[in-house]
Amino acid sequence: LLAPAAPGPLAGHHVLVTSGPTREAIDPVRYISNHSSGKQGHAIARAAAEAGARVTLVTGPVSLPDPAGVATVHVESAREMLAAVEAALPATVAIFAAAVADWRVADVAGGKIKKGPGGPPALSFVENPDILATIAHRKQGRPDLVVGFAAETENVLDNARAKLARKGCDLIVANDVAVGTDTFGGDSNTVHLVGASGVETWARQSKDAVARALVAELGRRLAKA
Ligand code: CTP
Ligand code: CA
Repeated sequence: LLAPAAPGPLAGHHVLVTSGPTREAIDPVRYISNHSSGKQGHAIARAAAEAGARVTLVTGPVSLPDPAGVATVHVESAREMLAAVEAALPATVAIFAAAVADWRVADVAGGKIKKGPGGPPALSFVENPDILATIAHRKQGRPDLVVGFAAETENVLDNARAKLARKGCDLIVANDVAVGTDTFGGDSNTVHLVGASGVETWARQSKDAVARALVAELGRRLAKA
């Protein structure tokens, strides 16, 4: 006979994860977005489920399958992602791995914009809500652990420390996405964990391994809290 499986380190917890890019419409047939593949966020959702958590994954458009055993909510825009995140709370842990578009087009055209003698359209942009900062600064119903990501091409640690303070989260997972690092869309990642007590740098490893190590770290932090 097999002994019953030990409960995982995140058993009894609801973990919320955002993943993938967002898409911001220009008109009914065009959008702006970014190169996020969703691989790291989806791997974190899988790892959290394997650690025994109930997991909600809020994802922008990606070409990955929904992870098994994870409640997956599909959204397109940043504002839809924020609404889905708020609807999924409460959670004890929230991990914001999505590459949210910073701006959306101010006046989305109701019909397809046509070429014409007037030349190219002059698009103007407005800033999207910061989902991570909105949730981390909540007075009520804030998850116990709020984790952000920081994709940086330079001054990785300084920028990550500034984001930790500005966004009010507990931990920033900073990765270097400079040209040549192959992190966007690739299968491996070099990350720095930036928290109030300092920085820990992990050797380059697969995004699955980063996800498992991050989930183990969050389990330890929850146990201490
Ligand atoms: N984030 C978010 N909502 C936004 C923008 C970012 O939730 N509108 C989250 C990301 O999911 C990530 C963290 O904030 O966890 C940092 O994202 P990043 O793009 O690195 O930081 P920004 O504050 O947008 O700053 P910038 O792009 O100028 O570096
Ligand atoms: Ca950004």
